[in-house]
Amino acid sequence: MRKLTLLSLAALFFCGCQKAPQQGAKEIRIGLSIPTQREERWVRDLEYLRKQAASLGVELLVKVSENNTARQKTQCDELLEQKISVLIIGPHDALAAADIVQKARLKGVKVISYDRLILNSDVDLYVSFDNIKVGEIQARYLTRLAPFGKYVVLSGAPTDNNARLFRHGAMRVLKPLETEGRIKIVMDQAIPDWNPAEATTLMEKALAQNAGDIQAVLAPNDATAGGVIKALAFYKLAGAVPVSGQDSEASAARRILAGTQSMTVFKDTRQLAAAAFGAAMSFAAGGSAPVNAAVPNGKLDVPSLLLEPLAVDKSNLGKVLVESGYLKREEVYGSSDFHP
Ligand code: BGC
Repeated sequence: MRKLTLLSLAALFFCGCQKAPQQGAKEIRIGLSIPTQREERWVRDLEYLRKQAASLGVELLVKVSENNTARQKTQCDELLEQKISVLIIGPHDALAAADIVQKARLKGVKVISYDRLILNSDVDLYVSFDNIKVGEIQARYLTRLAPFGKYVVLSGAPTDNNARLFRHGAMRVLKPLETEGRIKIVMDQAIPDWNPAEATTLMEKALAQNAGDIQAVLAPNDATAGGVIKALAFYKLAGAVPVSGQDSEASAARRILAGTQSMTVFKDTRQLAAAAFGAAMSFAAGGSAPVNAAVPNGKLDVPSLLLEPLAVDKSNLGKVLVESGYLKREEVYGSSDFHP
């Protein structure tokens, strides 16, 4: 897959679209249905998408479904009643959201599947990261720290196609090691709704069943890593057992510096928002959007734009997350003037 930087993305959108926006930006109305604001990353997604819209003077109608399938459907019905030309959806439920796509198509509204893929549907575009690679990065990192021993593998919500892709990527790395007898996966569990409290409960169970003898934990994102680390702390094992993550949340950055979380994955939501918004603008003007992959969703190979994820640990956190302006210096290092 072609690597995309922020610059190349900008170039793609400003030179590569087959048709330049002709409609006045003010007349363009875009609908956005975001699944949640619980994880910090989704707060950022919304902020960046709003910024994009404001800078172009485009009307962005926003709905947050708070991890609720029925609410997302009702909210999208409302958006479709409001003369939008494009609907950007981060689906809560990958399968259930297919109904929304069908309704949108009947109204001639283009649908962009945002970060999470909508399954079994004629979605027009999927804009996300290379999610299989995210899982591979997490697992590879853990296996370097813990080449042998017992592994707990937690995965995200079964309703989220990303969770399946992350797990698939991770298992590509872990399964061969299990076959060779180097590691043993003692727990392999999904976390409904990505609920961090559920991650704590599962981790407590794994620790109890194995008398605290666990060598690595694949936590699928930073919020669930936080939940896992709570359980480890109870066993006085926080910092002694490698734990993965994803999203580059400020709290995860602090845990990485403190040594209780080993790594996170950086998915630059600024790029994601820019890519999705650029595509929406192009669609609104009757144009097309740049793609670099085709991802099967059960009905078709969805034209997709997949961005690159990056591993972050103590060694590159300052450069990648702070110097790039993604996280604020104070939220990572606190108010102290000294930092590496
Ligand atoms: C996203 C992750 C996020 C998770 C929970 C996934 O679909 O890709 O970045 O942590 O949902 O919201």
